[in-house]
Amino acid sequence: MDNRPIGVFDSGLGGLTAVRELEKRMPSESIIYFGDTGRVPYGSRSREIITRYARQDVAFLRSFDLKAVVIACGTVSTTAIDVLKAEQDIPVFGVVEPSARRAAERTRNGKIGLIATRASISTGAYESAIHALHPAAEIFPIACPLFVPLVENGRTQPGDVVIETVVRDYLTPLKEAGVDVLVLGCTHYPLLREVIGAFMGPEVELVDSGAEVAHAVGSWLETHDALAETGHSGLRRWCVSDSQQGFRDLASRFLGRAVTEPVDLVDIERY
Ligand code: DGL
Repeated sequence: MDNRPIGVFDSGLGGLTAVRELEKRMPSESIIYFGDTGRVPYGSRSREIITRYARQDVAFLRSFDLKAVVIACGTVSTTAIDVLKAEQDIPVFGVVEPSARRAAERTRNGKIGLIATRASISTGAYESAIHALHPAAEIFPIACPLFVPLVENGRTQPGDVVIETVVRDYLTPLKEAGVDVLVLGCTHYPLLREVIGAFMGPEVELVDSGAEVAHAVGSWLETHDALAETGHSGLRRWCVSDSQQGFRDLASRFLGRAVTEPVDLVDIERY
């Protein structure tokens, strides 16, 4: 048993899709979340900058006594996970491996679509992870740089002509290729599940990278006897690097519940 919190971070709010799943699966766990809302998006930046930001994010989270760190961000997971793992003495989880596993298990025709930020796609990390598990898989990667700003601005609902147009534009090649699994390789994208699902059709299974990392963390904690005690009241601490009110206004959409706990402002450049 280990009642210490899990530290979770993302460039913004997308990582809350992982928190939502952690809460559902393990309500007794304490979670400290950092969303780098002052510097989002990461996905259009260089490897050097993403790595520097990610190190600062982890350094801030490590100012708490944590039992694990969750990189609830596709961009950091594809770009900087090896550096972060090498520097930390507690387990560090990323979204790539669990999402790749799910995609490889679920495809029937071996055609897998992959959407993520420009930085994530350029690393080829998802493709390598999928091919390691399913060498014959045909992977169709597409960078979708407009999705994160649209999601962060709440443009996620079916019927919103802007998001529906952008989804059609980005995803038409995947539909034409006949993929039967689509990896939502950025943790912001599960907010677009309805619009993407409606466009791709019910025969295409969507892999939610936030949910997959949450399941991986849960399994690891279980097998390592590191879950919080049942009935332990899981604490929440929300931390951001820009407007606390902005976080409150949007976070409930990602979390699927109202944010009632305090939200702290962090000067992330100090770390
Ligand atoms: N949620 C981040 C990801 O999974 C968004 C990246 C960004 O900030 O551009 O990639």
